Amino acid sequence: MKYCFGVDIGGTGIKVGLFNSDGVMLDKWVIATKRTEDGKDVLRDAAAFIESKLEEKAISKEEVIGIGVGIPGPVKDNGEVLELPNLGIGHFNIEEEMSKMTGLKVKAGNDANVAALGEQWMGSGKGFDSMVMVTLGTGVGGGIIYKGKIVAGSGGAGGEIGHLPVDYNETSSCGCGKKGCLEQYASATGIVRIAKKYMPNLDDISAKTVFDMAKEGDELALKVVDEACRYLGIALAQVAQTLDPEAFVIGGGVSKAGDILIDHIKKHYIPNVMDALKDRVFIIASLGNDAGMYGCARLILSSDV
Ligand code: BGC
Ligand code: NA
Ligand code: ZN
Repeated sequence: MKYCFGVDIGGTGIKVGLFNSDGVMLDKWVIATKRTEDGKDVLRDAAAFIESKLEEKAISKEEVIGIGVGIPGPVKDNGEVLELPNLGIGHFNIEEEMSKMTGLKVKAGNDANVAALGEQWMGSGKGFDSMVMVTLGTGVGGGIIYKGKIVAGSGGAGGEIGHLPVDYNETSSCGCGKKGCLEQYASATGIVRIAKKYMPNLDDISAKTVFDMAKEGDELALKVVDEACRYLGIALAQVAQTLDPEAFVIGGGVSKAGDILIDHIKKHYIPNVMDALKDRVFIIASLGNDAGMYGCARLILSSDV
């Protein structure tokens, strides 16, 4: 039997999945993300963890096809990472570094791009040849799949939907250094920021509590949801006008809100696209937090994505 690993590096945790060569997930774990200056601790920790699991499961390196890695920033075709807006680290070649650390073949991609691949392979995106995945978590990620292949662009920054400029008057800065990015309104942190504007007296607020309150009919919470989804719906209208995907798959922690999220996105999407694009499908990602790991496995198992 042959194996591979899918490693999804996020702001707070590194998710590691062990798969067989048919894409069946055999086991999964989460370890903490350590933020350090050069960023390589993240890679070292993941590499050491993989070594320990290989030993524990008595799997030899000859039996491992390789490691697929997802990372929250633009990744060039050759594995070079340029900036990681929400990790504060960057500038290394992730494929070379991790391959040196593990002695295994490594293929890397942007976290949202690989999540898109995962959803299209095994989740809600099944059957859609051309789709856009949007991840709403610490940041806002975008993964474009066109005719079955990831569109990462000429320098790996294709599909960076989170940094689409959506507000020309914003004065505070995004993690990327610009002002007025979609991520500042539609990420989990962005939603909390909007919530603080409408509900200044509520402490301990999270995107989840906002959606829970909105579901109960709380008017201020509904305003927050509507404002976040207005930015998102209009941004996705722009994406649709540019790419015309069959479907938008909405994932990341915030997507657990479900229908209320989809309904509000569509409310703002539909009036802002041409008639030809109004009926595009919006669905919640079904693999949840595992989408990235599945996509990473896909990345290393297939040379054709
Ligand atoms: C990054 C993207 C990433 C997204 C979700 C954004 O801030 O620029 O590359 O996909 O966060 O993690
Ligand atoms: Na992306
Ligand atoms: Zn930004």
